[in-house]
Amino acid sequence: MSRGNVLFLLSGSIACYKACTVISRLTQAGVAVQTVATPSALRFVGKATLEGLSGRPVFSDLWEEGRALDHIEHARWADLALVCPATANTVNRLAAGLSDDPLGALFLAWELGQKPWWIAPAMNHRMWEHPATAASLEKLRGWGVQVLDPVEGPHACGETGSGRLVEPEEIAAKVQAALGKIQR
Ligand SMILES: Cc1cc2nc3c(=O)[nH]c(=O)nc-3n(C[C@H](O)[C@H](O)[C@H](O)COP(=O)(O)O)c2cc1C
Repeated sequence: MSRGNVLFLLSGSIACYKACTVISRLTQAGVAVQTVATPSALRFVGKATLEGLSGRPVFSDLWEEGRALDHIEHARWADLALVCPATANTVNRLAAGLSDDPLGALFLAWELGQKPWWIAPAMNHRMWEHPATAASLEKLRGWGVQVLDPVEGPHACGETGSGRLVEPEEIAAKVQAALGKIQR
């Protein structure tokens, strides 16, 4: 029996490889995971990896044959959505309500306030501290989005500061705990 349905949305950060660990932990725990990836995310991690870990084809193209209503159906199906990693670009796009890709369309089709939509940002500390990013995060929080605040530490670019993705094991544990509280 499924321990809940998670819509797992990846955007284009170096931390995509860590997101694979989160997906693996969730599926091992019996959670059904549907992945969604931006074109940039697919430059960091391949469709074969995401499909292999989740057991389901990745949703990455609104216009793909046979997937015309996936942006509505996946939003209905999932108990919780998690954008992991969430890039600065994706945070700003979500706050602008843009829906010209699967990730943005699913966000607008989501019952915010009824079901949890989480984001786990990962970015350079200057991108994290930029007023554009800060304003978008404030807006998203105001709409009921839960932000798994990134932590301080070294970045792939060689700089140190806040913006590092929360550790994968911690994210997976938080998702499982939240699913455990959801009545289905
Ligand atoms: C090697 C590399 C690593 C990157 N890592 C990040 C990152 O961790 N966080 C971020 O916000 N953007 C990062 N970017 C920039 C994004 O990939 C870029 O803004 C992209 O347009 C994001 O698109 P998406 O949000 O639609 O996936 C990185 C780019 C490259 C080339």
